[in-house]
Amino acid sequence: MTPEQFLELTRVLPEPLLLVNSEGQLLAANQPVAAILGLRSQELQEKMLFDIVTESTNDMRNYLQACSSSRAMVLGIITLRKNDGQTLICRSQGAVIQPWSPESSALILLRLESRTTASSNFVLLNKKIDELAKEVQKRQQAEEALWKANEELEIRVEERTNAVKETLKELQLTQTQLIQAEKMSSVGQMVAGVAHEINNPVNFIYGNLHYAQEYIEDLLKLVQLYQQHCLNICPEIQEQIELIDVDFLIQDLTKIFQSMKVGTERIRQIVKSLRNFSRLDEAELKKVNIHEGIDSTLMILKHRLEALHEYPEIKVNKEYGKLPDVTCYPSQINQVLINILVNSIDALEELAINGQLKDYPQIHIQTEVIDENWVCITIADNGPGINEEVLSKLFDPFFTTKAVGKGSGLGLFVSYQIIVEKHGGQLSCFSTFGQGAKFVIKIPVSRGAIPCTPIASVMS
Ligand SMILES: Nc1ncnc2c1ncn2[C@@H]1O[C@H](COP(=O)(O)OP(=O)(O)OP(=O)(O)O)[C@@H](O)[C@H]1O
Ligand SMILES: [Mg+2]
Repeated sequence: MTPEQFLELTRVLPEPLLLVNSEGQLLAANQPVAAILGLRSQELQEKMLFDIVTESTNDMRNYLQACSSSRAMVLGIITLRKNDGQTLICRSQGAVIQPWSPESSALILLRLESRTTASSNFVLLNKKIDELAKEVQKRQQAEEALWKANEELEIRVEERTNAVKETLKELQLTQTQLIQAEKMSSVGQMVAGVAHEINNPVNFIYGNLHYAQEYIEDLLKLVQLYQQHCLNICPEIQEQIELIDVDFLIQDLTKIFQSMKVGTERIRQIVKSLRNFSRLDEAELKKVNIHEGIDSTLMILKHRLEALHEYPEIKVNKEYGKLPDVTCYPSQINQVLINILVNSIDALEELAINGQLKDYPQIHIQTEVIDENWVCITIADNGPGINEEVLSKLFDPFFTTKAVGKGSGLGLFVSYQIIVEKHGGQLSCFSTFGQGAKFVIKIPVSRGAIPCTPIASVMS
């Protein structure tokens, strides 16, 4: 580039620009440079760069050397010496536009910027950077807040989901309990109804039996007196005496009355058991004799324990310990007993039907005191036993291995709820497949008893 071309090119540019060679010779300078120095453009021609700066020739040469040997812009500081004697510190950017050659030295373009402008630009830049940094910080904070809100939202959603799951579980539990309670309450109501209906006439018979016996005995005495004192009996009466065999009748009548008494006494006992079993009037906690509950339940199940067609009799062995009265919900404890006993009977019947009975079918019921706070009822059968897979689901709601319509799979689930949740007790099953099953119920004698050592609910 020639100085003329440079001047032509830079004529309209507002920033101060200089064209120098690597020796420091000023080849051209545009109007803004002249204006800064307070000189006319022509006055600048033929000057050396060193003439218009305060820096030493050596420093300037080094700078120009650096500019001519670098491909990038080289920054420097130049202090211009103005025509009026004042100085102006400028920032310079030097770039080689024509490298050195053997024919000519390197041409360097210097772009000057007064330090005040540069520093005000710098301040502006810093301000901008500050603003940007603040903006970035704001955005970061907003992003963090968003993350936090999102996290909180997720936690809240999870909490809600858990709460809904919990409610659903509770609802399902209540539903299953309601089904079973409804089933048991209708059984209980029916039993209580039948017991009530039988109770009155039986008491009526039982109450009058004594008088009837007395009256008959009186009448018989009268007949005997007639026989003794009226010797001239007409043939018709004599014939009747022989026909009815009065002597045998007198003897047998006493026996008949005796057996009628035993019979009605038995019916009264059955009615008592039925009422005891249903215990509809006892929704409250009550101190009861557990053995009475077991006996009443066995009475209710008597028909299923007796031999019938292909089913042999199921023998029940009782081994009652000396138990204190237990504070409990009696009808619910009876529900548990019937659920466990029915399961044993079902299992034993199944064995009988399949011809797999190895021994007489038996149910063993044992009661004992664990300590002064706890009692234990054990119901064991010599049925088929329970395999491990069934054992692990035994207390699950709706789990059954029985045919559709035969089992709803609620018996043990509800029993577990009654013993564990309602009475603070324990219900466990011990079984080895092929060797019968044993259910152990542990209940506190009174509410608020110290919990006994927990054991696994299901064990093989
Ligand atoms: N003594 C037992 N011997 C063998 N299997 C048993 C015994 N007791 C319970 N089971 C098994 O446990 C399952 C669940 O018993 P559960 O009493 O809960 O329900 P279910 O008897 O099938 O139906 P539900 O009692 O509602 O009429 C039974 O289906 C049966 O497979
Ligand atoms: Mg059952």
